[in-house]
Amino acid sequence: MIENRKEEHIRIAEGKEVNASHNYWDDITLIHRAIPEVDYDKIDTKVNFHGNGIDYPILISSMTGGTDLAKKINENLAWAAERFHIPMGLGSMRAAAEKNELADTYSVINGYKIPFKLANIGAPQLIKQEKDALTREKIDYLMDLIDAKFLIVHFNFLQEMIQPEGDRNAKGVIEKVRELAASYPVIAKETGTGFSERDIDMLVDSGVKAIDVGGLGGTTFAAIEYYRAEKQGESEKAAAGKTFWNWGIPSPISLKIINGRVPAIGSGGLRNGLDLARSLAMGASIGGFARTLLKGADESRETIEKNINSIIRELKIAMFLTGSADVESLKRADKFIHGELKEWSDYYDRRF
Ligand SMILES: Cc1cc2nc3c(=O)[nH]c(=O)nc-3n(C[C@H](O)[C@H](O)[C@H](O)COP(=O)(O)O)c2cc1C
Repeated sequence: MIENRKEEHIRIAEGKEVNASHNYWDDITLIHRAIPEVDYDKIDTKVNFHGNGIDYPILISSMTGGTDLAKKINENLAWAAERFHIPMGLGSMRAAAEKNELADTYSVINGYKIPFKLANIGAPQLIKQEKDALTREKIDYLMDLIDAKFLIVHFNFLQEMIQPEGDRNAKGVIEKVRELAASYPVIAKETGTGFSERDIDMLVDSGVKAIDVGGLGGTTFAAIEYYRAEKQGESEKAAAGKTFWNWGIPSPISLKIINGRVPAIGSGGLRNGLDLARSLAMGASIGGFARTLLKGADESRETIEKNINSIIRELKIAMFLTGSADVESLKRADKFIHGELKEWSDYYDRRF
């Protein structure tokens, strides 16, 4: 049952160790400026994403929908999106396309003034699997349901490989993305495994409006599905979950490869405002937080508010200490890349 699966994802993400072993944002050091020549109180965090003004370069990343618990989480996150004037994505909306009675677990966010909202469907659902592909009518319905500005198509093929009930066919997906991108403002998004150079070339060519890198370094669905497979006694899938725990492209590397060709959302492993600053310095237009904002989201709005306030404070401190009066200046801040990320970065430098 989809509903149970969604709830399990949330509970596992809240309660278990689901991070990749290495967080690649730690391999980026922003260079300290002892003489910042900036007034902290005048730091400007506002940005414009495809013509949509927002107060902070923060996206509440796609997480959930389809259950009562998800409805509560979505409502609390939507409250925070209004409070901070930042955008919000929803979890995969297929459940709403299949069952009318689940629609309000997503549309609950319509009660809040959110600068822009992002609908979400899975790339595997664009082609026939055991179930038929999502039709245009259904996609229109999902966009209208939340008055979405963008349509996220998420890529989660690692998850599909580990989860007991996963879809196995990826043939023809990029053609479907190209067709969709001709009629909808599509954002391609990974879910913790990142996009490679070839993927990004294909996506840019397909006409997507932006890429949300969702790279390796934070939540990995190999881990989340490992716990589910183990519980269901699917020992081969559980073993594969362990083996592929650290599979993927580090988030900052996907940003480096995009290199400004389309607006990028820096995501996958963002824990705090310093990570956000690092992602912006690597070329992201905005940063996406998923699991960091999930913690406590089912309990209270105050917890989310505190978390976002903390992210903002740290972002502003990083901006101040790099002498960046606004986000554009932060993008030009001096940085140095070390550790494992440097090895990845060198590999791509040799190729470009
Ligand atoms: C409980 C949970 C559910 C998620 N569901 C979705 C989803 O339905 N669609 C999607 O695009 N991403 C989904 N994600 C992936 C996140 O948006 C994000 O890409 C990933 O968790 C990596 O970011 P993080 O390290 O900040 O958590 C989900 C993440 C979590 C933790």
